[in-house]
Amino acid sequence: MKNIVILISGRGSNMEAIVRAFRQEKWSARLCAVISNRADAAGLVFAAEAGIPTQVVSHKDYADREAYDAALQAVIDTYEPDLVILAGFMRILTTGFVEHYTGRMINIHPSLLPSFRGLHTHRQAIEAGVRVHGATVHFVTPELDGGPVIAQAVVPVLPGDDEDTLADRVLAQEHRLYPRVVRWITEDKVSYTGEGKVVLADDIAGSLDFVVKGGGL
Ligand code: GRF
Repeated sequence: MKNIVILISGRGSNMEAIVRAFRQEKWSARLCAVISNRADAAGLVFAAEAGIPTQVVSHKDYADREAYDAALQAVIDTYEPDLVILAGFMRILTTGFVEHYTGRMINIHPSLLPSFRGLHTHRQAIEAGVRVHGATVHFVTPELDGGPVIAQAVVPVLPGDDEDTLADRVLAQEHRLYPRVVRWITEDKVSYTGEGKVVLADDIAGSLDFVVKGGGL
């Protein structure tokens, strides 16, 4: 049974979607803790009410990025995690921290990577004039938003969309995609080969049910 630790910085709606799926679908895994770098992260309230241990490791208490990541790593490792889930954890991570969790740390990014890395992805998509957009779950590597892709959800960009309408459409799919991927990992259906490649079990590979139809798709 895998130990899972989730890191958040704010709203925590992806964490919430994962917790709900974990409970409803009775996954065989342990949700050990939700950890935030901000004491005021709204998601901490949901996690605590759901009975999951919560912890705050504030970046303000540490002199630099290295010291913070070392402290965070020490806290995470008390839970002996098999999987560390970044769910809106708004920190740039040091290479040492990332490498410590190679093959067992995942992130969700609100774009179809490798397009639109970094911030303001929905604005970037609208400005680029793309017809489809979406979200990507990937293993975390030292290259920001550059790790190997596990799965993606695709949504149309519709005429009249602004950043907010597009963000809402993507977020709804994030809430389907991320729990599904986490469940796959708890079931050992996702393997990280170590050479920047991800192998999916036959019964999930090629699944296209994350393409949301509309806008000509
Ligand atoms: C999501 O859009 C996620 O893709 C990005 O940050 C946002 C976090 O939202 N990494 P929430 O905190 O999960 O509600």
